[in-house]
Amino acid sequence: MRKPMMAGNWKMNKTIGEAVALAEAIRAAVNDVNNVDRVVCPPFVDLPAVQAALAGSNIAVGAQNMHWAASGAYTGEVSADMLKGLVQYVILGHSERRQYFAETDETVNQKTKAALAAGLTPIVCVGESLAQNEAGETQSFVSGQVRAALAGLSAEQVQALVIAYEPIWAIGTGRSATSQQANDICGGVVRATVRDLYGEAVADNTRILYGGSANDKNIRELMEQPDIDGALIGGAALKVESYGEMVRVTGEVYA
Ligand code: 13P
Repeated sequence: MRKPMMAGNWKMNKTIGEAVALAEAIRAAVNDVNNVDRVVCPPFVDLPAVQAALAGSNIAVGAQNMHWAASGAYTGEVSADMLKGLVQYVILGHSERRQYFAETDETVNQKTKAALAAGLTPIVCVGESLAQNEAGETQSFVSGQVRAALAGLSAEQVQALVIAYEPIWAIGTGRSATSQQANDICGGVVRATVRDLYGEAVADNTRILYGGSANDKNIRELMEQPDIDGALIGGAALKVESYGEMVRVTGEVYA
């Protein structure tokens, strides 16, 4: 059975002090929910302090981005080697990175390979825009993003990563996909594409998260869906009350 995951993407929020306070509160609230993987992904500058605050806990830390090269003249960037030892996870190809920072399917693929080579677990994001959704292009677009992100990866590597389906129209809008819509794409498109490429067993072992206005109110319904293995949470991950409740509910659904 796939272990569920509640991953918080803190985006560009929380100073170092605020991040430590939130991490400590999350530790106090959900350190003992052992049937759910918990990951917090603060901004780069917060990572050392958050890692220290969560040392010895059951809560993992992730970054929100990284560069594909090992080192070099890439002003403002951070490499996998720099993150190693500091985080276990790294979010790659988030739609905000693709939209505002010109990330492409190709760079997401390069980053995914670099992260895996460094022993980090990528959380690779895919998802269509509202216009694509309304034009009926969701399936072909998302499937294409999955194929591109996984290009050149072995079956072992694919089972080691996590894929997050985040429809752009649901992110930060309060308008979540329905649990049925989310499950249809997570299962019928993302997992189906992995199955096409790597076969049934790999598809069965790959964790697929939903993201986009997931919160403490809709998480139960989302997590009851067979092809949704967790959530990548934005706004609701910034408060211990909502994040803690989402972890607790997921633990109940998987009990
Ligand atoms: P929201 O949960 O705020 O909609 O953000 C989702 C997201 O983009 C997580 O990566």
